[in-house]
Amino acid sequence: MQRVDFAFQQVMQYLNTQSQGRTLWLADENTPSNVSLSPPNVDVVCNRYDLFLSLQRAGWSCTFGDFTLYTHSDASFDRIVYRISKEKPLVHHLINQAFRLLKKNGCLILIGDKSEGIKTFSRKTASLFQTPLVERKVNGSVWVSEHIKSHQTSDTDWLDDQNYAELRAQSFDNGKTYYTKPGIFGWQKIDKGSAFLIDQLPDMVGDTSLIQGSVLDLGCGFGYLSIELAHYPIQLTSTDNNAAALLACSENLIALGNKGQVVPSDAGAQLPSNAFDLVVCNPPFHSGFSTSSELTQRFLNQTARLLKPNGIACFVVNQHIALEKLAVSYFRDVKLFADNGHFKLLTLQAPKKQKDSI
Ligand SMILES: C[S@@+](CC[C@H](N)C(=O)[O-])C[C@H]1O[C@@H](n2cnc3c(N)ncnc32)[C@H](O)[C@@H]1O
Repeated sequence: MQRVDFAFQQVMQYLNTQSQGRTLWLADENTPSNVSLSPPNVDVVCNRYDLFLSLQRAGWSCTFGDFTLYTHSDASFDRIVYRISKEKPLVHHLINQAFRLLKKNGCLILIGDKSEGIKTFSRKTASLFQTPLVERKVNGSVWVSEHIKSHQTSDTDWLDDQNYAELRAQSFDNGKTYYTKPGIFGWQKIDKGSAFLIDQLPDMVGDTSLIQGSVLDLGCGFGYLSIELAHYPIQLTSTDNNAAALLACSENLIALGNKGQVVPSDAGAQLPSNAFDLVVCNPPFHSGFSTSSELTQRFLNQTARLLKPNGIACFVVNQHIALEKLAVSYFRDVKLFADNGHFKLLTLQAPKKQKDSI
């Protein structure tokens, strides 16, 4: 049974309540992608491509981007609605930006669960806005706070956003430097599962000479797998749903001499069928604050569609994910290649004919 998302219900309730002037909705990864209604005078900025596509289809005025909000002018909105994100630097950045973007007497509405830190963020926001804290509990452990902008920005102590908006060159444990930033999966470390996959990849495909042709990094993040593959004689495509990940991956591949193309997609759904000899993937197992096997199945379904009939997909997953069981619905040949006690490596071959979507 689907869990009721009370925080999202609150977001929709606010957006559907008529208010004077223009509203901005900051829609982060924790928003379900099946939003239908499109109320008037609401602009949306979202950092997730699947959500962007579904909001566009439903008629919303929506921009896909990394929440830098640089192109939005100061004092241009009367109301901003934001359900807090997972990462503190991003939440701080968006609260700071909301303050800048609001007109005088405009209102920022923050929504979130107590376990997500809403109480602390609301307190900090009240201090930034220099107004008393106005908050209320709505359902379960979901809280809402409302903050009116009654003073201008010059005398404000901004929240520490760790320079969220900028990509930064960061040294990692392996001695390499990558462009990365908060908001991207594992932005400060190499994922151990991905490192395991790269280590074993030549043996998984049988021979390094088979790492050629068209290769897809599905869910590329800042591009660790892409970077490690870029020295092979391949045509590389890297794709992700997350705007910050796409920017970072692109910058990393430019730094290597412009290797490959980086494109947005929802689990590869916007890429051509039967196009790839090799797909490498460390799939996400959660969307926003919730986990979902539906997302894993979408990755498998799309991989089966994207692979050439004689292509091979190499996946790494956390040990607790039953990828083998799910994968047999999409591939005739599913092999558990290795298991190091934390992560499993699987090869998927001979894709079954796929339905258009799942
Ligand atoms: C486990 S991370 C792996 C990242 C990277 N490949 C690595 O090895 O570090 C999964 C990635 O899938 C991306 N992702 C999540 N949902 C997605 C979707 N619907 N379509 C495409 N990518 C998605 C996330 O943004 C994240 O970058």
